[in-house]
Amino acid sequence: MKVLQSRSFCSYINFFLFSLLLAVTANTQAVELTPRESHAYIQICAYCHARAETSAPVMGDIADWQRRAARVEGGFEGLVRNTIVGVGNMPPLGTCGYCTESEIRNLVATMSGLDSSVLNLAPSSDASKADE
Ligand code: HEC
Repeated sequence: MKVLQSRSFCSYINFFLFSLLLAVTANTQAVELTPRESHAYIQICAYCHARAETSAPVMGDIADWQRRAARVEGGFEGLVRNTIVGVGNMPPLGTCGYCTESEIRNLVATMSGLDSSVLNLAPSSDASKADE
C-alpha cells in the first residue's frame, strides 16, 4: 500500500513537472494557431512556404525570416503588411481570401518563429468575429 501511495505521488510530481515544461515551452512559442489558422496554413500558405523551390521563405528557417524582418520597414509588422498587400511573387493575403488581419499576423508569427512579444500586439479577438 505504501509503495502504491509513493508511486502515485511520483506520478503526481511527474505530471506537475511535465505541465511546467509544457508551460515553459508554450511561452517560447510564437503563437498558438486557431483551427481556422492551422487550416489556412496547411491548405494555403504551406503550398509555397513548405517548399524551398518556390523562393518563399520556408517555415522554421528563422535566419531567413530574421533577415526579412530586418530589411522591411516596421520589422515584423512590415512582414504582416507585405503579406496583406502582397509582395514579390506572393499575391495579397498570401491568397487566403478569408483570412483576417489578426489571422495573418498569427500565421506570420508562427511561420517565422519571430519574437513572441508580437502576441501583445495581436489580440486575436477579431479572428472569432470573422467566424460569426
Ligand atoms: C503562391 C505562393 C505563396 C502562398 C500561397 C503564400 N506565400 Fe507568402 N510568400 C511567397 C513568396 C514567393 C514570398 C517571397 C516574396 C519576395 O520576397 O519576393 C513570400 C513571402 C512571404 C512573407 C515575407 C514577406 C516579406 O516582406 O519578406 C510572409 C510574411 C509571407 N509570405 C506570409 C504568407 C502567409 C501568412 C501565407 C498564407 C496565408 C502565405 N504567405 C502564402 C509565396 C506564397
